[in-house]
Amino acid sequence: MLVRLLYVSQPVGPVTTTMTTLILEKSDANNKQQDITGVLCQGSGLWMQVLEGERSKVNLLYSKIMADRNHHNVQLLSMEEISQRQFGQWSMTLVYLSKDDPLVQMAHPEFDPYTASSKDAFFILDELIKTGSPILNTPS
Ligand SMILES: Cc1cc2nc3c(=O)[nH]c(=O)nc-3n(C[C@H](O)[C@H](O)[C@H](O)COP(=O)(O)O)c2cc1C
Repeated sequence: MLVRLLYVSQPVGPVTTTMTTLILEKSDANNKQQDITGVLCQGSGLWMQVLEGERSKVNLLYSKIMADRNHHNVQLLSMEEISQRQFGQWSMTLVYLSKDDPLVQMAHPEFDPYTASSKDAFFILDELIKTGSPILNTPS
């Protein structure tokens, strides 16, 4: 059974390029092996990530991610059964989330993933992917 999970968290301390690179490298290797796909949004003191794959595998990865000391306030926004992947082309890709981004501003001036509906969060993710250029496209 395929699921799509969305969570938000706050990095502990500044997010360095090295940290982001390490997360993406680890994700690329592990996620390919586990047939997990998704997108990681970073910016404005937040991480927001979508994970898609087999339910048991997504659960296992999410519990590892929750225990990661690089972030805190990890909150599950959505976990749904899906018939097909939306982010299937990436083992993990990075897009920058900036609340100052005019597009984000226009669409949802008060956007805060901690209080937004998951529908709004997915909408913004989608916009970011379509309009921004996802960094590090790693075909799964
Ligand atoms: C915001 C964030 C996103 C992450 N995303 C992933 C991911 O998609 N896949 C992954 O394997 N690890 C991810 N990690 C790293 C995991 O928390 C964990 O360190 C890693 O899975 C451990 O892998 P290992 O068991 O191979 O050492 C992420 C960490 C953070 C802080």
